[in-house]
Amino acid sequence: MSQYLRWYYDEFKQIGVDYTDLEEVQAYDLRMQKLRDTENEANSIRKLLGIKNTDRVLEIGTGTGELTLKLSDHCKKIVAVDVSKTMIDCAKIKAESQNKTNIQFCNAGFLTYENYAEPFDIIVTQLALHHLPDYWKMVALRRIYGMLKEGGKFYLRDVVFPSMIRDYDSYFNKIITDLKKFAGDEIAEETEIHLREEFSTLDWIMEGLLKSAGFYIESVEYDGFMAGYCCKK
Ligand SMILES: C[S@@+](CC[C@H](N)C(=O)[O-])C[C@H]1O[C@@H](n2cnc3c(N)ncnc32)[C@H](O)[C@@H]1O
Repeated sequence: MSQYLRWYYDEFKQIGVDYTDLEEVQAYDLRMQKLRDTENEANSIRKLLGIKNTDRVLEIGTGTGELTLKLSDHCKKIVAVDVSKTMIDCAKIKAESQNKTNIQFCNAGFLTYENYAEPFDIIVTQLALHHLPDYWKMVALRRIYGMLKEGGKFYLRDVVFPSMIRDYDSYFNKIITDLKKFAGDEIAEETEIHLREEFSTLDWIMEGLLKSAGFYIESVEYDGFMAGYCCKK
């Protein structure tokens, strides 16, 4: 349907960092390996969602595939989608080198992925939904709701801004300065691009979008400008 609507959002158009660029993708992968404990992240998400070895899982915006690769050991099948073919190719190479046989990769996104099989037990997305403006976030969340089984779980982790800040200039300047000091120039620059060009929203808007899509929010974790929502259909 979407491909026939001239006003539909083109989610393949890159905004902010260009994740179709191979050098950007390789640099992102290296940076994340240094900054994040992906093993620990995956274990926490798996436990929070109670993922079982009979579950069918969907990850949207999989990037270089770290979460998908780790969750694949604990579920029946995982579908990993991303609008960047370069990201998908990078994730595929990792999956092949680790002999993973239950992962299906797909070059698509929140607004274009179509599930023709039975609904998913679990859907996860990390650091990707902010690529869509708010109205399209809602369209994405409603599509996700539609692709989940009754009682299925949805986990969203993304950059979400706290609404209680009085002086956002000082708040964001401190974040950039701290990042330069503790995480390096590259991540500080990426954060500047994020603020200037991408579509991260405010906490109350994100909660409203999730509820309006039909989700029951089981738990929320706010940590600075990072938020994690565990939701149920
Ligand atoms: C910051 S990376 C995060 C990758 C990975 N989830 C992680 O946690 O490291 C954002 C990813 O979202 C993807 N992306 C951007 N817009 C998207 C969309 N509309 N649908 C699906 N993926 C999207 C990008 O191509 C990129 O791989």
